[in-house]
Amino acid sequence: MTEEAARVFDAFVKDVRDAWMSRDDVQARMEIARPLLRRLVSDPALLAASRSWPSTEGRKNLLLYTDDDLGFVVNAVVRVPGRRGNAHDHSQAWVLYGLLDGHESLERYDRLDDGGHPGFATIKLASVSEGGPGSVDIVAPFAIHAEQGGRERSVAVILRSERLVGRHLQNGYDLETGAVVARPGPEQIPFDLGSGRTV
Ligand SMILES: [Fe+2]
Repeated sequence: MTEEAARVFDAFVKDVRDAWMSRDDVQARMEIARPLLRRLVSDPALLAASRSWPSTEGRKNLLLYTDDDLGFVVNAVVRVPGRRGNAHDHSQAWVLYGLLDGHESLERYDRLDDGGHPGFATIKLASVSEGGPGSVDIVAPFAIHAEQGGRERSVAVILRSERLVGRHLQNGYDLETGAVVARPGPEQIPFDLGSGRTV
């Protein structure tokens, strides 16, 4: 099953590359890739393969693919049941967040202050969208949000418009204190879909 999953994934990467090369604007590239990710996270072979993927708790991501030419990155996250996520942004990157297994909710926050106090922000919950297998959300640069786990394990595949880790800090937002903490993104764990193992 992992071989079939790897084939499906390779076809997805090729389709994303082709789609990206047909557009110049990053937002347009992400929007044209959205139905491709929706198809990927609806694939039964990838779903079956993902059942053995390791947990990424502790601020980790599985790194499935980096495109050295076009710059996009594909990650996977595997969350434990009931996982509570903190509010954060993804700096300047656009992100497509596709749920492959389980259910999660995506909380979006508005920033109410004018940014006049460095290191602090006043944020307010603006909306919550529920996601299940096959659903894909798009998150714009610097959009403040949090991913919340459901009652069962969940797996998501993430298309990022660029690699941030090691290049740009991302903000975490403390809802209680208002503190904004700039930090590196999640640790990247190279993962080979063909063998179903970290490499
Ligand atoms: Fe996020």
